[in-house]
Amino acid sequence: MSTKKKTAGAAKAAATSPIRAPFISLETPGTQLVLARRGDIWTFAHLGAKCAPADAAALAAKRPFRDDALGACTMETYPAFGCDRDSKTHEWCEKRGALQVRHSDGDESVRWRCVSARDLPAPNGARHIAIELADQKHDSFRAVQHFIAWGDCDVFETWVEIRNGEPGAVALSRMYSFCLETTGLAEKFHLMSLSGIWASEATVAESEIALGQETVLGARSGVRDAWENNPAFFLSLGERATENTGRVLAGALCWSGAWEIRAQHAFTHELKLTAGVANLTGPYVLDSGASITLPKFVFSWSGAGKGAASRALHRWARQHRMPHPGARDVLLNAWEGAYFDFDEAKLLDMMDGTKTLGGELFVVDDGWFGRGKFARNDDRVGLGDWFVNHEKLPRGMDFLAREAKRRGLKFGLWFEPEMATMKSDLLVAHPDWFLQESGRPARCGRGGGQVVLDMTNPAVRDEVFRMIDQTIRETKDLAYIKWDANCDINNAGSPYLGPERQGNLWFDYTTGVYELFARLRAAHPHIVFQACSSGGAHCEYGFLEHADEFWGSDDSCAQQRVFIQWGEGQFYPACAMAAHVTAVPNHQTGRDASLKFRFDVAMSGRLGFELHPKNMKPEEVEFARRGVEAYKRLRPVVQLGDLYRLASPYEGDHAALMFVSGDKRRAAVMVYGLGRQLKHGRPAPLLLDGLDPEKRYRIEEINLVEPGKGLHVDISGKTIGGAALAAAGIAFDLAPGDDSFVLELTAVGR
Ligand code: GLA
Repeated sequence: MSTKKKTAGAAKAAATSPIRAPFISLETPGTQLVLARRGDIWTFAHLGAKCAPADAAALAAKRPFRDDALGACTMETYPAFGCDRDSKTHEWCEKRGALQVRHSDGDESVRWRCVSARDLPAPNGARHIAIELADQKHDSFRAVQHFIAWGDCDVFETWVEIRNGEPGAVALSRMYSFCLETTGLAEKFHLMSLSGIWASEATVAESEIALGQETVLGARSGVRDAWENNPAFFLSLGERATENTGRVLAGALCWSGAWEIRAQHAFTHELKLTAGVANLTGPYVLDSGASITLPKFVFSWSGAGKGAASRALHRWARQHRMPHPGARDVLLNAWEGAYFDFDEAKLLDMMDGTKTLGGELFVVDDGWFGRGKFARNDDRVGLGDWFVNHEKLPRGMDFLAREAKRRGLKFGLWFEPEMATMKSDLLVAHPDWFLQESGRPARCGRGGGQVVLDMTNPAVRDEVFRMIDQTIRETKDLAYIKWDANCDINNAGSPYLGPERQGNLWFDYTTGVYELFARLRAAHPHIVFQACSSGGAHCEYGFLEHADEFWGSDDSCAQQRVFIQWGEGQFYPACAMAAHVTAVPNHQTGRDASLKFRFDVAMSGRLGFELHPKNMKPEEVEFARRGVEAYKRLRPVVQLGDLYRLASPYEGDHAALMFVSGDKRRAAVMVYGLGRQLKHGRPAPLLLDGLDPEKRYRIEEINLVEPGKGLHVDISGKTIGGAALAAAGIAFDLAPGDDSFVLELTAVGR
């Protein structure tokens, strides 16, 4: 996402080839998006299973379009306010659509004509097309709409550039990335999405969108954008889809600021689905000669339920979205083990513990920076002063990084680049560098003094970049950064943007953050970033373009994590989901759980620890050491394999999920009991999924507290065919309370 000053006009014709056919077929391995040309514009003709594009276009041509004034369905690929109808008897003004603008002459309408459609260079197996549209009245007002169909996963990406070649500024009051307005998909729609708040992220909610009603998802924080709702959804087309049945459209907006997704089930069974950034305080002013690139929207269609749609998004994220491919390290983050209360000796002690547990990376969290009266020893001061506190850590970060290296560990650090406290060297020197409403007292967040920096201002970004870059260089072997963000935009004003452009705040703030992120990554490409925002508020694909993982929630209680990870895993892959074993009683919920249960739960994501190892009993250290060893063995399967959800924690008394490697030779099954109290009776057998029915698998229950004892299944050590495991399933037992087990499956023979 970016805004650029440049002359608007025709797209640069870099190695492109014009498309002259009346339809465009964008194909993934199992699905297809067909666009058909109708008069001046392009329309959505088909999204679904594969078929001959000409047939799909011929069938779509029979659907009501434009001239159906009552239906008012455009099917245009990028409808805008005002695009009137071709009806012989009516003129019709489209009032929804993806875009609404006020032109430099005050005119409020757009009616597109297609200037060109082109194939652009694309990676192997993918197809990338760009459709350039011009307003019929203001020819120099243009939109370039992109679509990519990936050749290795059933995912499409789309985004739009808006170019203002008019003599004056254009005001954008709606600037969505995507709009699908179509008939004929279904007569019922069910929307599944995630909602939450601090320490309760990703609660799954699903309901039917009643005929004539609209469901609106959104987040207005401007920063913590994946809490209120997460910018991803499943839309069942027809009856409510299950894991393995039903037609599903999955979508995700790749954006880390304010956003909106709307799904309307119009009375004539049209679906009107829109997704994009939200302008919370008025229109975005796009200067003459400037362009703006709106966030990507990714979508996937599945004819076989939500599971397949999840796996498609996971694969896309691993292969095309996150910066570093491959498996992630087992780490120990110092936060819950130390909070602000640490010194060198404590950190070295924690490093030793990390090594003993088998960890690979040690991360120092909040509290290492600031100086003098602004030394960050609690959350009221020092934020924004990104230099090491030598009173606390006299030998600096380089020393700690070297000590980590001496122990064979990588080293990581926490930053909160978008924020500062009023009590900081940064804001004392630059009182106009944070977001504030002119002439009003600042509303402060965490610790009573935290505010959001004005990331629309390049000088602010330069200084934050300078400080962080210098710390990275001084630390030498820094391998990992946790990028946190713990405040909303509570003061909706930018001193930098000036009175005319305050409406640009929400968009330019987020593009400013991305610009800073991209610069840090370009300067230090090897660093793995974690996206954190008061827990899981940056669990979304905007941040995951720059970060390789996210912190799912500050609620590290294993019983709650079963639900939170279940929710986040609907759209985001296990390798990106940081899941840490923490101490009991849990610091957020006060609940107890066995180390095994905590471990088994964390194993279904990117396993880590967040405790002081010295507080573990010797037998716990021994269990954890064996667990980490097992996890490392299973890591490629869990982190890079395909997820199959077997039993929902929302529907019964246990949750079950499994991961299967791409070649189907290995699998891991995890089952979490949620307090079943029945004295007699057993759960129904666990029907495995995703295995090769022709293969035979050796089954081993792992993570046992005492090797060979306390088995939950009778068939540990046996070899069973994949077909039987799916058809007849595995009988298992769970004790009342928090009980869990993990099975490792390995194919034998060919
Ligand atoms: C946020 C994060 C935590 C931790 C603290 C540090 O709450 O979610 O994981 O990093 O900040 O202040």
